[in-house]
Amino acid sequence: MASAKVALVAGARGIVGSNLVEALLSRGDWSVIGIARTAGSGSSGGYRHLAVDLLDAGQCRDAADACRDVTHLFYAARAGRADPADEAHVNVAMLRNVLEGTLSRATGLMHVSLVHGTKWYGSHLGRYRTPAREDDPRLPQVNFYYDQHDYIVQRQQGHAWRWSTVRPHIVCGISVGYPFNFITSLAAYGSLCRALGKPFDFPGTDACFNSVSQATDAGLLADALIWTAEDPRCDDQDFNIINGDYFRWCNVWPLLAAFFDVPAGGPTGTPIATAMPDADATWSALVRRHALQDLPLGALANWPFLDFLFRAGWDDMSSTVKSRQAGFHAALDTEAVFLGYLRRLRDQRFIP
Ligand SMILES: NC(=O)c1ccc[n+]([C@@H]2O[C@H](COP(=O)([O-])OP(=O)(O)OC[C@H]3O[C@@H](n4cnc5c(N)ncnc54)[C@H](OP(=O)(O)O)[C@@H]3O)[C@@H](O)[C@H]2O)c1
Repeated sequence: MASAKVALVAGARGIVGSNLVEALLSRGDWSVIGIARTAGSGSSGGYRHLAVDLLDAGQCRDAADACRDVTHLFYAARAGRADPADEAHVNVAMLRNVLEGTLSRATGLMHVSLVHGTKWYGSHLGRYRTPAREDDPRLPQVNFYYDQHDYIVQRQQGHAWRWSTVRPHIVCGISVGYPFNFITSLAAYGSLCRALGKPFDFPGTDACFNSVSQATDAGLLADALIWTAEDPRCDDQDFNIINGDYFRWCNVWPLLAAFFDVPAGGPTGTPIATAMPDADATWSALVRRHALQDLPLGALANWPFLDFLFRAGWDDMSSTVKSRQAGFHAALDTEAVFLGYLRRLRDQRFIP
C-alpha cells in the first residue's frame, strides 16, 4: 500500500462503516481495508475488502498478513443479540479477535476508534439525565459498550496506540441491505402510506411525538471519527457526536408528510407491521409500477427499529460542549438532513 495512513474499518458495509469508508477514500491520503462477512461490491481503487467473520478467531488471524500496514482501526461492527449479557460477550469477542488476531502484526498501529452511541446513557431504557455528558456515571445495566470500553482501556496498557470513542444518536445515511437505518425505513414507510392511500400516521406514542430528539448524519459522524483518530486532543477520550440541533417529531412530521405528498396524521401507537400487514406484497407491486431498484422491502425497512425509535417517550439530548471545545465544529440542520436523504433515495430510484 502506497499511503502512510492505512485504515481498517471493521463493519465496513453497515450504515456507519460504509459512510466512513467513503469519507476516508474521498480524503485522498488514506488506504482503506474493510471487513464484513459479506463482500458486497468487493475491492476497488484504494479500497480492499476482506470477507471475514469477526466471531471466527481463526479467520481473523488469517487476515493478519493483509493488515500488517494498518495504522488506524475504526471499529463499527455490531452483532445484535436479544440477551444483553450474550450481546456483550459476542461484541467484545469480535473486537478482541480484530485487535489480537487481525492486527497482531500491525506494528505501526496508532489509534483505535470505537463507535458507540447514546445507549451508553440508557437512551433505549427510559428517561435519563439530559443533556447527557460524556462523564455521566454508567448505569447498572449490562451494556456491550461498557464491556468494549473496559477491554480497550485495559488492552492499551503497554502499547503506543491511543483510543477514542464516539456516541451518535439515530445515524442518518443510506445503507441498502443494512436496514438498521432510520432514513431508509422511514422512506419505505412513507412511500407505502402513499401507495395505500393512508395518512402519514406517527406509528409511535404521543409522548415520543412531543419529546425532544436528535440525530447524527453519517457523513458528519465519519468526519468526527477521522478527527478523533488524528487530533491528539481526542486521545483516550469519549465524544458525543450529533448534528448539533434538537427537534420534536411533532414539528418535523408535517414536513415529512409533505415530502411523501400524503396528509400528516398523529400518533397511533400501532406497530407498523400491524398497521400494514401486507407491506411486502404492496412494496413489490410499487417496485414494478414505478420501475424502482429491484429490492425487497427488507433491504430498506426495519419496522421493529422504527417502532422502537418512535416509542421513546422521553427527551434524547446529548451535550456537544466537549467535542466543540476540543475542536469539532461541524453542524447540520437535521430537518435538511432528513429531507436531503429522502430526495437522494427518490433520485436513485429506491422510492417513488
Ligand atoms: N444505526 C444507528 O442509527 C446507530 C445509532 C447509534 C449508534 N449506533 C452504533 O453504531 C455502531 C455501528 O452500527 P451500525 O448501525 O453501522 O450497524 P449495521 O448497519 O448493522 O452494520 C454492522 C456491520 O457489522 C458487520 N458485522 C456484523 N457481524 C459481523 C461479523 N460477525 N463479522 C464481520 N462483520 C460483521 C456487518 O456486515 P455483515 O453483516 O456483512 O457481516 C456490517 O458491516 C454500533 O455500535 C451501533 O450501536 C448505530
